[in-house]
Amino acid sequence: MTEYHIKGNNALFGELNLQGSKNASLPILAATLLTSARSVIHNCPDLSDVHQSIKILTSLGCECSFENNTAIIDSTNADGVMIDDELMTSMRSSIIYLGAILSRNNRAILSYPGGCELGPRPIDLHLSAIKSMGAEIDDTRGRIECSTVDGLVGREVVLPIASVGATENIILAACLAKGRTVIRNAAKEPEIVDLANFLNSCGARINGAGEVTIIIDGVKKLYGTEYSVQPDRIAAATYLCAAAATGGRVKINNVVPTHLLPVLQYYSNAGCQMDIGDSSIEIAAPKKLSPVGTIKTREYPGFPTDAQPLFLAMSSVAKGTSVFEENIFNSRYRYVDGLNKLGANISGHDSVAVVKGTNSLYGTKVDVTDLRGGAALIIGGLCAKGKTIVTDSGHISRGYEKISENLLNLGAEITRY
Ligand code: UD1
Repeated sequence: MTEYHIKGNNALFGELNLQGSKNASLPILAATLLTSARSVIHNCPDLSDVHQSIKILTSLGCECSFENNTAIIDSTNADGVMIDDELMTSMRSSIIYLGAILSRNNRAILSYPGGCELGPRPIDLHLSAIKSMGAEIDDTRGRIECSTVDGLVGREVVLPIASVGATENIILAACLAKGRTVIRNAAKEPEIVDLANFLNSCGARINGAGEVTIIIDGVKKLYGTEYSVQPDRIAAATYLCAAAATGGRVKINNVVPTHLLPVLQYYSNAGCQMDIGDSSIEIAAPKKLSPVGTIKTREYPGFPTDAQPLFLAMSSVAKGTSVFEENIFNSRYRYVDGLNKLGANISGHDSVAVVKGTNSLYGTKVDVTDLRGGAALIIGGLCAKGKTIVTDSGHISRGYEKISENLLNLGAEITRY
C-alpha cells in the first residue's frame, strides 16, 4: 500500500516537463508485435501499466528492455498466442493485444478483462469487429479463444459507439489483413492518431486517424522503427487543475496544446489566465476560483471523461456551484466520497454531480478508488488545511510518473511512503 502524505494549502509555482502519454504508449507497445522486428520507443512513461505491458510482450516471446523512458521491443520471436490470466486482469487495456496477436499468429487466447473500478467494461465491440474480419471466436470456456484459418480480412466496420479501445484493436487487426478495412464512427482521440503514426512509420497504410472514418489498407509486412510517444494530455490537465485549485502559477513544457482544447476554456471560466505556447501551457490562477460552469463528458473532441475528477476536485474550492454530467462511464464518481470527507460539498445522483464550492477543505485520511479519482484526491489534499493522507493500492502509479516529485518541485509539501 502506498501513502501520499500532504500538508496542503500551499500554492504551486514553477515549471514541469510533462510525461509521455499512458494511453498512447499502451497500444503502441502492443503494435510492436506486428513488426516481427526491433522497435525503439522513446518518451514512454515509467508507469506500472507500461511495465505490465512489457511483461505481456515478454511472455509472448519478445525481448524487451526499458531504461530512461525508452522501451526497446524486439518481437522477432513473439510466437506466443496466450496471455496469462493474471497479466490479463491486472491491466484492463490488455484486450488491445487481441487484434495484434491474432493478426500476427492467427490465434489468440485471452481471458476476459472483467469489470474495473469505473464499472462494467464490455468488449462486445472489439469481438464483433474481429469476428467480422474473419476470426472464429469461442468464448464458452470462460476465456476468449480466437483463430483464423488463413489470416484476417479487411471489412467495413461501423462502430455503434466511438470506442477508443475497439478502434485501436481494429487498426491493429487490419494493418496486416488482406484488403481494405474501413472504420466508421471511429474514435478521434489523439492517442488513435499516435498509434496510426507509429504504425505508418513501420510501413502500415492507415489514413484518416483522428477523423470519423479511418481507412486501413493491409500490407504484407511491417518493419521496426524508432518513435517518440506523444505527451500525456490527461497528466497535463492534472497539473493544471492542481495549480488552479491551489491558486498557483505553473508552466507545463513538452505539451501539445491542441490536445487540451476541450478542457482549456474551463480554466478560463474559473478565472485563470492561460498563456499557450507552441509546446507549453502556463496557467496563472486567481486567489479564489470562479465556478467552471457545466461540464459534460463526451468522446474527443468533447470534454474527456478522464479529466472529470480533476475538474471536480478543483471546483470544490471555487466560489459558487458547478455541475458535472458523466456520459462515458456510469460508475465514475466513487472518489467523490473522499473529496466530501475532506470537506467538499458534492451531491447528485446517477450521471450528475453538483459541486458547491467551499471556502476550505480540511486534511484527513482518504482512500483512492481509481486512477483519476486518486489524482482528484491528491488535488483535494493540496488545497486542504492540515495533513491529508491519501492511501492507494496502486492506482496512481498506473498513470502518473513521479507525481510526488513533480508536485514537490512545484512547492507542494508531499511525501510518498
Ligand atoms: C480508453 C482510455 C480511458 C478513457 C476511455 C474514454 C486507454 C487505455 N483507456 O478506455 O482512459 O477513459 O478510453 O476516453 O486508452 N464500450 C462498449 N463496448 C465495447 C467497448 C466500449 O460498450 O466493446 C463502451 C464503454 O463501456 C464506455 C464507452 O464504450 O461506456 C467508451 O469506452 P472506450 O472508448 O472503449 O474506453 P476504453 O478504450 O476502454
